[in-house]
Amino acid sequence: MDRFTPYREQLDALEKAGRKRRLSIPAGKDFSSNDYLGLSRSPYLKDSAQTAIANGIAHGSGGSRLLGGNHPEHEALEAFAADHFGSESSLFFGSGFAANTALFATLPQTGDLLLYDELIHASVHDGMKLGRASFRAFPHNDCNAVERDIQNWRTSGGTGTIWIAAESLYSMDGDRAPLVDLARIADMHDAMLVIDEAHAVGVYGEGGTGLAGDIGRQDNAILLRTCGKALGGEGGLLTLPKLLREFFINRARPFIFSTAPSPLTAHLAQQAIAYVADNSSLQSDLAGHIALARDCFAGLSLGDHQNSQIFPIILGEDRVAVEVAARLQGQGFDVRAIRPPTVPAGTARLRISLTLNVTQDDIRDLSAALHEALLLADAA
Ligand SMILES: Cc1ncc(COP(=O)(O)O)c(C=O)c1O
Repeated sequence: MDRFTPYREQLDALEKAGRKRRLSIPAGKDFSSNDYLGLSRSPYLKDSAQTAIANGIAHGSGGSRLLGGNHPEHEALEAFAADHFGSESSLFFGSGFAANTALFATLPQTGDLLLYDELIHASVHDGMKLGRASFRAFPHNDCNAVERDIQNWRTSGGTGTIWIAAESLYSMDGDRAPLVDLARIADMHDAMLVIDEAHAVGVYGEGGTGLAGDIGRQDNAILLRTCGKALGGEGGLLTLPKLLREFFINRARPFIFSTAPSPLTAHLAQQAIAYVADNSSLQSDLAGHIALARDCFAGLSLGDHQNSQIFPIILGEDRVAVEVAARLQGQGFDVRAIRPPTVPAGTARLRISLTLNVTQDDIRDLSAALHEALLLADAA
């Protein structure tokens, strides 16, 4: 026994269960990243970065936004994002994870009730645990359960504000939240609605604004748009009422006690949002990939997948998912197996994500290799 024994034992247990994670440098055709529009290597954004540096934009912020780290690029991005996404104001964080954690730790108050979709992202869980409100999961996309929970809570004397949290497009299933119904419920009960557009921003909606449409413009809505997926960079933008932005600046610990994101990152996030809005062919090219993949993958177990760039090929057993992924990787396709606890037990899967880093021929080739790998897995 030594002081590292507990860690060694837990890692050994993960290894035994076939769930030990390892880092690997991406190799092969990209069917695993969230770089949906291929912007992480965009020549346009690379030029924008070079020009920005040549023009003196700092690569480091130098401190918290409250202590000398607030740069014109942060303010320009937030003003631009508020206007582009149609909200009163916006606030930028170094990552979507930090933004979500700050939001759920800071805004729901003692006496409030937070209802969240059972498939919501880990960052929301971490934020809720730091926060003051009671919280409860509702079954995935089940609006009747949300209404029932609200009624039960009110009947049992709950008087605070109700918060409802959902993702507009779920990252492991590629299905969408019933946003219209959730917004109706939120309006009816004077509730706040938080929508995580991490996997939808850039890819869907007018100018890449996401799936929420007008719902996102309501004053009881707070939206997260991450800049590290389709927007090709990094960071997380909350759009929210002005008063709540002011509250964040005064109360959100991850905002106050952390070095502000790089001004260069903020500038590039703004450039990326504008670039997507000006180049609708990015969205239509990805839509072409999605239509082709739907044909190619028809007949496979796609769960609740609904016409999105994320295709879950559900294989059940962890071992099968890992073996099929390894076979595809060996053939030059970067496809990853996703296992519990990231997805529910018994639903290990390949998460195939489509990006503009691949061609339509690559999708056809992957489909042929995938069908063959599944036949071999069945035969094993
Ligand atoms: C739904 C969702 N929300 C938030 C995040 C966190 O965003 P970021 O990667 O910018 O930290 C992710 C990242 O995987 C996500 O999938």
